[in-house]
Amino acid sequence: MRIPEELIEKIKDENDIVDVISENIKLKRSGRNYLGLCPFHNEKSPSFSVSSDKQIYKCFGCGETGNVVTFIMKYRNLSYIESIKYLGERININVDLENKDPRKDRKSRLYEVSIESARYFFNNLQKQKYAKEYVVRRGISETTIRKFGLGFSLNSWDSLLKFLRIRGYKEQDIFDAGLIIKKEKGGFYDRFRNRIIFPVFDYKGKVIGFGGRVLDDSKPKYLNSPETLIFSKGTNLYGLNFAIKNSNTRTFIIVEGYMDCISLHQYGITNVVASLGTALTVNQAKLLKRYADKVIISYDADLAGQMATIRGLEILKNTGFDVRVLTVPQGKDPDEYIRSNGKEAFINLIDKALPLIDYRLTRAKQGIDFNNGEMLIKYTKEVTEILKSLDSVEKDVYIKKISEDTGVKEQALYDLLNNEINKISVNNGMIKNEESYNVKLYVEPAYLKSERSILKLMLSKEDSNLVSKNVNKDDFILDSHKKIYDLIIEYRDKVSEDIYKYIEARCDDVESSKEWISIIELELLDEEVDKQKLIKDYLNNIKKYRLEESKKEIMQKIKEYETKGMIEESVKWAQRLIELQKEIGRC
Ligand code: UTP
Ligand code: MN
Repeated sequence: MRIPEELIEKIKDENDIVDVISENIKLKRSGRNYLGLCPFHNEKSPSFSVSSDKQIYKCFGCGETGNVVTFIMKYRNLSYIESIKYLGERININVDLENKDPRKDRKSRLYEVSIESARYFFNNLQKQKYAKEYVVRRGISETTIRKFGLGFSLNSWDSLLKFLRIRGYKEQDIFDAGLIIKKEKGGFYDRFRNRIIFPVFDYKGKVIGFGGRVLDDSKPKYLNSPETLIFSKGTNLYGLNFAIKNSNTRTFIIVEGYMDCISLHQYGITNVVASLGTALTVNQAKLLKRYADKVIISYDADLAGQMATIRGLEILKNTGFDVRVLTVPQGKDPDEYIRSNGKEAFINLIDKALPLIDYRLTRAKQGIDFNNGEMLIKYTKEVTEILKSLDSVEKDVYIKKISEDTGVKEQALYDLLNNEINKISVNNGMIKNEESYNVKLYVEPAYLKSERSILKLMLSKEDSNLVSKNVNKDDFILDSHKKIYDLIIEYRDKVSEDIYKYIEARCDDVESSKEWISIIELELLDEEVDKQKLIKDYLNNIKKYRLEESKKEIMQKIKEYETKGMIEESVKWAQRLIELQKEIGRC
């Protein structure tokens, strides 16, 4: 019984390890990772670390390692297949090996209708002069049109519907993809008419929906696909597929609109995604967390934009981002600004983006007349609210700044702040946790690393043969390493697949799954070294470990014979021990 690898992939993809583990144990953010008490050994201070980037966990106390499937296997004590089923259910996928999931078929049909429609819209734009002129007038280049697949929906009630019907698509699927609307008296008509079309891609680059903009000032300005089986606005970010391809930074910029995103990309600022008007959701923030640690939010400067900014900021902060706010001057949006001022000017704005606290303080100051006592009180209250969460050094810095800015005495601000803090500490009982030092690190025996290194070498095309010529399965101590060795050899006859996926799908017990992750994670030394010698060194380490183990056994024996008074036997073993010691010395 074998679950298709793509399905395993999908289930792993959609079960975020941080979410899954958080459902079972309490995790706290710590830098780029999450920390908690290890569920696999007894501890008082947390050494269990979960990485959202890598989608793996590792305990520094006991060495447990794995991915989301390993975790469920170990934590719930389930088999590999049971764990996949468990995780499948969690995201509403029924892993029934007998019947194919009908939802999957439906989904793939919707993907197909969507990409076909995107092609159709794209061709329309190329042919319709007035639509193309609009796009060009807005400064969008031909390259950008192609990259973002921009299109046009004709000024007609049924041109898309007809086109798709001729191509053999079913009305039901076209409807389910959100492309046509039901008439009251039966029949359907095109949702998008006479609009510039922006296909929306998921992070893998699949078309999942559309936005359509009018060519003039009529309303609504934008029309979007409804929520469908494949399009869920709140869990997607426009432009993410391009941003992750082109950016080598973990700082991302979030803008509001299609045009802002496209324009910045065109000017070569590619670490940009758009939240598409809606307030940023927790799911969008989590999606982004896989690719970024710092987010610069650049929404419109109008009030609606500011409110959206504040809400977005909270969500981003809670997801663990370092958050900055970029304000575009002159009430422009990023698209307008970069078109009239150029890339450098926009990069300048990025560099000047304010940290969250500064942004909130700036906002609090807006419209306050510092000669008006009542306003001043309101202002200081708001400020203390903002400063509450800071550590004391930061507080000092900001209080000094605010005092200089506003003329409010520093001491007055401190007093207010202390009042606030005392209130909280009484309320919460404020328990301080000071047992976080004294953490013992788990140190692995060296042979483990050597065995993993050999297998890692074997994964590269160049070194694979060299390794298998010099290393036998029985050279490995760990059974799971023997298993992975066999899998790599076995894989050679099936070169069409991805070796990583091939092996990962077959490491279906806790031990081998854990070891597989450790092998992937392992970083080998640089390329320059003599591989042959390297392999010899690894083998030597393993041999040394075996010898050390025998040494322990022999010493145990000698002790036993001595206590029993069997001197002759004990001397015999002592001699053996000396030889062994020599052999270890030669390793
Ligand atoms: P904007 O009006 O700022 O969009 O709305 P924009 O991209 O700058 O549009 P242009 O420059 O006028 O062409 C921000 C986003 O809000 C959503 C769209 O996703 C838009 O990109 N929106 C806006 C809608 O969904 N419907 C609307 O009627 C307006
Ligand atoms: Mn705009």
